[in-house]
Amino acid sequence: MSAIRFENVFQSFGERVVFRDFNMEVQTGETKVVLGEGGSGKTTLLRMVLGLVQPDSGRVFVEDQEITGLPEPDLMAIRKKIGIVFQEGALFDSLSVGENVAYRMREDATHSEEEIEATVRRLLGFIGLEDAIDKFPSQLSGGMLRRVGIARALVGNPPILLYDSPTAGLDPITGRTICELMMELRDLEGVSSIIVTHDLKVASTLASEFAERQPDHEVVFRADSEENSDLVNTRFVLLKDGTTLFEGTDETLRNANDPYIQDFLT
Ligand SMILES: Nc1ncnc2c1ncn2[C@@H]1O[C@H](COP(=O)(O)OP(=O)(O)O)[C@@H](O)[C@H]1O
Ligand SMILES: [Mg+2]
Repeated sequence: MSAIRFENVFQSFGERVVFRDFNMEVQTGETKVVLGEGGSGKTTLLRMVLGLVQPDSGRVFVEDQEITGLPEPDLMAIRKKIGIVFQEGALFDSLSVGENVAYRMREDATHSEEEIEATVRRLLGFIGLEDAIDKFPSQLSGGMLRRVGIARALVGNPPILLYDSPTAGLDPITGRTICELMMELRDLEGVSSIIVTHDLKVASTLASEFAERQPDHEVVFRADSEENSDLVNTRFVLLKDGTTLFEGTDETLRNANDPYIQDFLT
């Protein structure tokens, strides 16, 4: 089964052609890291998965259901399967961390206050910020804001997560904590995801390490090696001129001869 599939997608804004005959598949449980220069269409690609941008032609599928041309109520149902982590965190400044995470559940109005409270605590526990529940966004660091953004995206246990430059503007150590959360979700929760990033360090961490739960429940991160290389379920896509210039593993990306790829990696 595939989580997300693009088939022969053409998409443009007026004269500006963003995608031409674009094809990509994210298998269930797979993480696809999408690389590309600014303006290459990375955010637009995520917006097409949500049905917020419609292709001019071609088809987009979510969990093998075609979403192109679906009416808004059906798209809303599809969007419930998808968590989104925005570039800037995009929290409501006037709401506390707990209220931000609870927002979607309160809006749904199908959950009891006890359920909401328990979910918020569980998710803040997952991102390691249980103590920040009553803080406001202005009181948090950039990395904390990004982690709260991840907690909020996890409400409803969506099987698919979309991340738009989740580590942009963060220092490497904070970026690492975001990477670890993404690896836990990939390796221990079986989430399928698209991670749009400029950050090659993040890309290579995702491609070379995996999360594992120890018998004492502690989560550790282990480096990939020859004999377990297939444990890291991550592939790269490099966008250029509206189509895929490269698709493959970390290793094949590094070994590619294309001068543009080599340029991009350095
Ligand atoms: N809503 C829009 N209307 C018109 N042009 C847009 C719109 N969104 C994006 N674009 C254009 O589409 C191209 C791809 O944008 P985007 O997906 O944001 O790139 P990236 O996220 O890779 O930086 C850019 O040329 C951008 O100017
Ligand atoms: Mg973008």
